[in-house]
Amino acid sequence: MRPVAARLKPIGPSPTVRLGALVNEMKRRGEDVISFSVGEPDFPTPPHIVAAAKKALDAGMTKYVAPAGIPELREAIADKMKRENGVPCEPGGIIVAPTKHAIFLAIMGLVDPGEEVLFPDPGWVSYAPMAHLAGAKPVPVTADETTGFELTANALEAAITPRTKALVINSPSNPAGSVFSKETMRGICDVVADRDLFLISDEIYEKILYEGTHLSPASFGGMFDRTVTVHGFSKTYSMTGWRLGWLAAEASLAKQLVKVQEHTITCTPGFIQMAGVAALEGPASVVRGMVDEFRARRDLMAAEFASVPGFHVLRPAGAFYFFPRYDLDLRSDELAERLLTEAKVAVTPGAAFGEAGEHHLRFSYACSREDIRKGMARVRDFVRALRK
Ligand SMILES: Cc1ncc(COP(=O)(O)O)c(C=O)c1O
Repeated sequence: MRPVAARLKPIGPSPTVRLGALVNEMKRRGEDVISFSVGEPDFPTPPHIVAAAKKALDAGMTKYVAPAGIPELREAIADKMKRENGVPCEPGGIIVAPTKHAIFLAIMGLVDPGEEVLFPDPGWVSYAPMAHLAGAKPVPVTADETTGFELTANALEAAITPRTKALVINSPSNPAGSVFSKETMRGICDVVADRDLFLISDEIYEKILYEGTHLSPASFGGMFDRTVTVHGFSKTYSMTGWRLGWLAAEASLAKQLVKVQEHTITCTPGFIQMAGVAALEGPASVVRGMVDEFRARRDLMAAEFASVPGFHVLRPAGAFYFFPRYDLDLRSDELAERLLTEAKVAVTPGAAFGEAGEHHLRFSYACSREDIRKGMARVRDFVRALRK
C-alpha cells in the first residue's frame, strides 16, 4: 500500500485517549481499577442544560446552522467575554466549535507550513500534533516547576526565531494546574507584541479556579487584535461529550478562521448550541457547586500525597490535576504502567506532556473522594514497596 501523508508520521495516538481505552477494557474484564487518568468531570450535565437541548430537538432544530454559530449563542458568548473576561469582542468575532477544534481552527488559520508554533512544556497533548497537521513546526518552551509551571517571558524570548508565528498558552493549565500571575501574563503579552506574534490563549479551565483571578490576555492593552481566545463548556459545565466551545477574536480575523470550519465540520449542531445558551444564561451556583467539590478533592489529594514518599507536589491553583515529580529511577511511562497493572491505579505518564514532564505523573481528581482515598492508599503502598 502507498504510504499515508508524511504529516501524520510525527503524530502518535493520543496518550490520554489510549490510556482511557485501556482502563475501560480492564474495567470490562471486571478488574477493580481506580482511574486518575481522565480529564473529565464526573458530574452529570446540569438538568436545565439537558432540557434546553431536548426542547430544541423537539422544536426540530436538526438542520445545518450558520458555520460560526447561531446568533443567540454568539451574542451570549460575546456578552460573557466582555462582562467576565474584559475582552472587547463582538458576536461577529465568535466562532462556536468544539474547544479542541477551535484551537485547530486557530492554528490552521494563523500558521503557514514551515513556521513555528510555541507552546508550554509540559503542556496539553494536542498542541504539537495540531502544529504538525498545519505543516508547522511545534516548539516546546520549558515551563516546569522551577517557575511554578508558568511560562516566562525569558523562556519565550529564548525560543523565538524569525520563523515563529504564534504562541499557545494555557492558564489554568493542564497538566500542572498552574495559574499564571498578572506579571507573568503581562511579560508574555509584551514579548508577543514586541515580536509581532499571534497569541492563542486556551482558557478552557477558566472557571476551575481555587486561588487568584482568571486573566484573559486579550483584555490587556494592545493584545485583542493579535489574540485568539479559546473557551469551552466541557470542563465548566461537565459537558465533555457535547463537543461545545468557542473562539473569540477580532471580527475580521474570525471571518478568516471560519473558513476552516466551513470546509471541515460545517457547523456545531444547533440543538447543542441551545444547550450552550442555557449553560451561559443559567445559575452560576451550578458551577460554584462543582468547583467547591473540586476544591475539597484537591485538598484531600494534597493531604494524601503528603504520605507518598519521594513525590513532590506543587499545590495546583486551578484545573483538576496534580503533577507530582517523583525521585524513583523509572521513566514515567514505566511507572504509570506498573501502577496500572500492579496497583490497579491509572495515571497519565508525565512524558506525554513533553520532555519537561518526564519523571512526573498526572493525577486527575475529577473522581469521587472515595476513589481518591482508595486510589491514593494503593499508590502509597505501591511506592513504599518499590522503594524498599
Ligand atoms: C488544555 C486543554 N485544552 C483543550 C481541551 C479540549 O477540550 P474539549 O474536549 O472540550 O474539546 C482540553 C481537554 O482535555 C484541555 O485539557
